[in-house]
Amino acid sequence: RAPVVVAIDGPSGTGKSSTSKAVAAKLGLRYLDTGAQYRAITWWMLTHGVDVNDAAAVAEAAGRPAIVSTTDPAAPGITADGEDASGPIRTQEVTAAVSAVSAVPAVRSRITELQRSIAASAPEGMVVEGRDIGTTVLPNADLKIFLTASPEARAERRGGELKAKNGQADLAATQEALLKRDRADSSRAVSPLLKADDAVEVDTTELTLEQVIECVVTLIVEKQ
Ligand code: C5P
Repeated sequence: RAPVVVAIDGPSGTGKSSTSKAVAAKLGLRYLDTGAQYRAITWWMLTHGVDVNDAAAVAEAAGRPAIVSTTDPAAPGITADGEDASGPIRTQEVTAAVSAVSAVPAVRSRITELQRSIAASAPEGMVVEGRDIGTTVLPNADLKIFLTASPEARAERRGGELKAKNGQADLAATQEALLKRDRADSSRAVSPLLKADDAVEVDTTELTLEQVIECVVTLIVEKQ
């Protein structure tokens, strides 16, 4: 089997992470969560006094922290300058700030370069999930998937995750925050969230996670 590189893109709440991790584990591939990289650099900036709404300050700091991802789908993790960022990157504070940071071109070019070198160093192949993997980061990926779902389904899933974690969730607020982030990610000037022309679109609204995983596994196996 030749190593296979799979790009999985789409907006928040479509099951990208759960699907990507499960597919990678099933097929013995590495896994890269590129959203975690943007979150980690955002977290580092928030904790190091960088004004995340000041694009010039963000650009100036873009190269400072070392961002290291663990690509084992069974134990994905991330550090910023050696500090474990896996927990803090999921806070509301980071979620609210990440779109502004990731829209800054200096941040994107730095993280994109990092993503390409990680993908190139996985002889067994890799599932890379994000927003611009098929369009910008890995335009030559063997397979590109674009996951979608209705806004209601996406808010419900994200709300369910937050509830499982914190024991509470305001669904309306969750939906609003999620749509706001997607609007920002879709409308930024540099590599916005976009379906690549040659991506396979999978609408997950009516599918269970198991069905989405099965569908993606089938698409990959057909390619190999
Ligand atoms: O996937 P996740 O929700 O963790 O991504 C967090 C944020 O990181 C997104 O809202 C987006 O602003 C940014 N991102 C990006 N490009 C990617 C992956 C994530 O701009 N490839």
